[in-house]
Amino acid sequence: MSKKIIKNKNIILCVTGSIAAYKSIYLSSLLVKEGANVQVMLSESAKNFVGESSFSGITHNEVITGYYDSKTSLSIDHIEIAKKADVIVVAPATANILAKIALGISSDPIVGSILATKAPILIAPAMDGDMYSSKQIQGHINEINNLGYKISGPEKGRLASGIEEFGRMTEPESLLDEIINIFQKKKDYNQVEAIVTAGGTIEDIDPVRYISNKSSGKMGIALAKALRDRGAVVNLVYGRVDSLEETYGINKIPTKSAVEMKNEIEKLIDRSQIIIMSAAVADYRVKKISKEKIKKDNLDSIQLEKNPDILKSLDSSKIIKVGFAAESENLLINAKKKLSSKDCKIIVANDITLEGSGFGSDNNKAVLVDNDGEETFPLMSKNELAHKILDRAKKFIN
Ligand code: CTP
Repeated sequence: MSKKIIKNKNIILCVTGSIAAYKSIYLSSLLVKEGANVQVMLSESAKNFVGESSFSGITHNEVITGYYDSKTSLSIDHIEIAKKADVIVVAPATANILAKIALGISSDPIVGSILATKAPILIAPAMDGDMYSSKQIQGHINEINNLGYKISGPEKGRLASGIEEFGRMTEPESLLDEIINIFQKKKDYNQVEAIVTAGGTIEDIDPVRYISNKSSGKMGIALAKALRDRGAVVNLVYGRVDSLEETYGINKIPTKSAVEMKNEIEKLIDRSQIIIMSAAVADYRVKKISKEKIKKDNLDSIQLEKNPDILKSLDSSKIIKVGFAAESENLLINAKKKLSSKDCKIIVANDITLEGSGFGSDNNKAVLVDNDGEETFPLMSKNELAHKILDRAKKFIN
């Protein structure tokens, strides 16, 4: 992993009460060796496992242990530190701190800082395997993913109980790599504001039924993250998605129907330079949404009306439009038709019949079509494809 990318970065290392806390002493040392300015926060219970002086000796910064032992000039450590932070790392993260983070319970400066920061947050859980797989903890993990924080591990290995299970904290060297990765990105979308749409729209039929589609939102979320990492200001307008994992730093705008999605996009259009429309917009909506649950005997036909074609409706002289084409036949012919009929700069064409690709999958196989020609890619992760799309779209910016 390349060196000195985190030099002078303000890294907040929050250590909570797990046996794995001893590994965080080594992590703090690795970070300091890379030139980072490391500020450690110790929870009350962490003090049972590791001492303040180990950390202060390595980081040359005083350790923060509570709200009332102020070490900053402003006497409000967690706020001052949260504002200055380039990344907040919680390692090890116990079941207790995961619950508090998920719920925003700010009874200690660790959660206080997390609530007050705009920096990315990396969390490395460590606990007994059965505790980790409990419904409560999995619920909190889900919530933390949806908040957009990055969770690393836990890994499978020998736990303090002697059992081999998932619960071991990610090793310090791997955490160092993940921290460096957060900063190691080319910033060729600096100065760009982007709209990305993701997921499927939901068109209500009645209070219990709706029309939607199989979109997981993964491609759109990968694009939003790639844009963020390359320096753009990103507005993610999304419908039904599987998860909002790792979407820190992205402005997230939830929507439901196609009409709502269109309205939210229109609010952002004047200040944005590019829209990447990866959402699977329902082509039709129900003409009249029933307030009451429709009885099954009256459900043999529903009157539909056409939704607006959002992408087509946007003025291409105002914004660079990148569209998708989900096709099960005549991939290129249909993609080229969409390129011109929707007046897009690029169409990302997917053959949705390919196994292991497209809807719901982590991978995608696509052809990028624009007026200069086509570029065919092999099956790759949606994250990788997102960067390929941005590489190709770059020529249209400015
Ligand atoms: N799209 C849109 N509004 C719609 C339908 C689609 O903005 N009402 C966008 C999609 O987000 C995508 C592109 O248009 O970027 C193509 O969507 P796709 O579903 O492939 O095609 P459709 O235009 O719906 O045409 P068809 O279903 O006939 O293939």
